[in-house]
Amino acid sequence: MEDKRMAAEASIKYIKDGMTVGLGSGSTVNFMLEQLAERVKEGLKIKGIPSSLKTERYAKQLGIPLIDFSKTTKIDIAIDGADEVDPNLHLLKGGGGSLVREKIVDRAADKLIIIADSSKIVSKLGEFPLPVEVLPFGFEVTTEQIAAGGCTPVLRKKDGQPFVSDNGNYILDCKFNSIEDPLALHEKLKCITGVVETGLFPQMAHKVIVARDGRIDILHR
Ligand code: A5P
Repeated sequence: MEDKRMAAEASIKYIKDGMTVGLGSGSTVNFMLEQLAERVKEGLKIKGIPSSLKTERYAKQLGIPLIDFSKTTKIDIAIDGADEVDPNLHLLKGGGGSLVREKIVDRAADKLIIIADSSKIVSKLGEFPLPVEVLPFGFEVTTEQIAAGGCTPVLRKKDGQPFVSDNGNYILDCKFNSIEDPLALHEKLKCITGVVETGLFPQMAHKVIVARDGRIDILHR
């Protein structure tokens, strides 16, 4: 937890007055929101675009000013977490189920900074089951087609019922063990009708701030 907090704190200096800031999702991002709220109280003028309903609620509770894409489609910087980061800074995300909105926000940003503790740094993506958001209609068929690609998709559940994303969809957690080519796999999965988005974020992060035992490392692409 301390390392997550430290990585979050190290990202704050990249947020400057006047910026529109993409607000990621997850426990590491929550630490960032708390620190950002402090800066806002001290006079920093920013506007946030949240990447999940959870982040939106927490940011509002903390008093961070928010806007949405109806007001601007330009995001100066996005700060987000990740479930896995490989040596090329390709990311696997969506453990919290917010991958679609995260990808829309992160892609709209001029710069994407990822904050993580060192447990997220891996030599190859795929040990963490890849979250894939699918339409509820015919998800049984979609599941079979994804499984044919060499993984074991498991329908994510919450309280015994299918987990429903902010977009009203289901999530399949797909265990690949090792993903050789994240971009190729992402493209293959996206071609399956019924797949809304995958949790693979290849070639998107500009910087990854990693905290390991109280020390900060910055990885660049
Ligand atoms: C949310 O859907 C995810 O992409 C998160 O960014 C990711 O799971 C990291 O979460 P933590 O910061 O809670 O580890």
